[in-house]
Amino acid sequence: MEESTLLSKKVSRRNILKTAGAGSVGMLIGATGIGGLLSLSDTKITKGETMKDKIPFYGKHQAGIATEAQHHIYFASLNLTVDNRKELIQLFRDWTEASAAMTEGKAVGDHAGNPFLPPKDTGEAAGLAASNLTITFGVGPGLFEKDGNDRFGLRNKKPKELKELPKFPLDSLEEKWSGGDICIQACADDLQVAFHAVRNLVRIARGKAVMHWTQSGFQRTKQADTKKETPRNLFGFKDGTVNPNTNNGKEMDQQVWVQSGDGPGWLAGGTYMVVRRIQMFIEVWDRTALREQENTFGRHRDSGAPIGQKNEFDSPDYNKKDANGQLAIPIDSHMRLANGDGSQQILRRAYSYADGMDPETGSFDAGLLFICFQRNPEKQFIPMQHRLAKMDKLNEYTVHKGSAIFACLPGTKKGGYIGETLF
Ligand code: HEM
Repeated sequence: MEESTLLSKKVSRRNILKTAGAGSVGMLIGATGIGGLLSLSDTKITKGETMKDKIPFYGKHQAGIATEAQHHIYFASLNLTVDNRKELIQLFRDWTEASAAMTEGKAVGDHAGNPFLPPKDTGEAAGLAASNLTITFGVGPGLFEKDGNDRFGLRNKKPKELKELPKFPLDSLEEKWSGGDICIQACADDLQVAFHAVRNLVRIARGKAVMHWTQSGFQRTKQADTKKETPRNLFGFKDGTVNPNTNNGKEMDQQVWVQSGDGPGWLAGGTYMVVRRIQMFIEVWDRTALREQENTFGRHRDSGAPIGQKNEFDSPDYNKKDANGQLAIPIDSHMRLANGDGSQQILRRAYSYADGMDPETGSFDAGLLFICFQRNPEKQFIPMQHRLAKMDKLNEYTVHKGSAIFACLPGTKKGGYIGETLF
């Protein structure tokens, strides 16, 4: 096990000396060979840190987009109830401060507090590691204009791409899973940490915003998947094989980050997020023959390789014919249609969800909280989804129940706040 992983598992979120005696810290340092990383009088991680369970909140871009997907997500869409620009700005300032603290593994506000008042932090993450928590904020079309009302004086700043997505064939959208003025995406390797983040941010917004819908989601943990393979979705297939390379700045600039000159300057360094809550009929899928399952995606289930190839990352041969003279990767397979002519790409960062039973059918209410990021939804997600909605074989086994679009704001520096370029 990597020493940083070991450390992050053993070192508590805050106040290491409170939870572990000085002796055990010494032993831990000795055992992991990182002497000097933590001093006994200062529990902060200092220069040369190798702890991998903290992801900086501040930066050019918001974290939680190019960040390697954590194990859990807690996603919330909120509607604003204030119509005062000053109060909205204050909300973003307060959120920024609280988010920076929580991603450091710290509590919100003064933890000791006043015994005659409710504590500032709700407390359920006390003693927990930061767990790679990231908090990502986005703003929806309603922030700029609602019912014809320019409520925050932002109408002129609305990018033309930031509008409700068109209705796609077969959409079965429900208001309770759709839209929102603001989104908060909290991802962490611990669900309690992710939930704590959203809960405290919603609490801070009291009187200014209310929750519209929320969804939690999961992927396999890295502890369970020591080989760090591509995670599998609830249909048992590797999901996330073909994605832009998040370590390649040029590719990210081309496909994901909005560039200055693309539209209003305030969004440069941000990105557009599309969220679709897609229910998957897992019981129907489980009665489907393997060959048919593979033809649905255009990939082999076990290896994740394109049909006709051996390994997951082999290039697909879209012209190859099978023994019957048919295209080996069927014309209506998900992969072929999503790929199109290969010119559109999106950064997929999806999580599975399982929300108990669908009371109407007695089946699982389970599926995919599909989230993708892109520079321009009109050129990327929308044409792709039009192709899929028209003839994707996968549509027999899925239904889109929720939909939302947000502009994820650029990142900010210490002392600044998320949203500062907009206001
Ligand atoms: C429940 C719904 C969905 C499931 C289960 C699903 C699953 C998969 C799987 C297994 C693959 C092949 C492996 C990979 O490259 O990751 C794939 C590829 C892909 N999917 Fe989906 N997907 C879903 C919805 C969507 C939607 C709504 C979009 C976008 C409109 C989308 C876009 C893509 C893209 C771009 C690829 C890569 C295509 C390529 O090879 O170039 N998927 N998906």
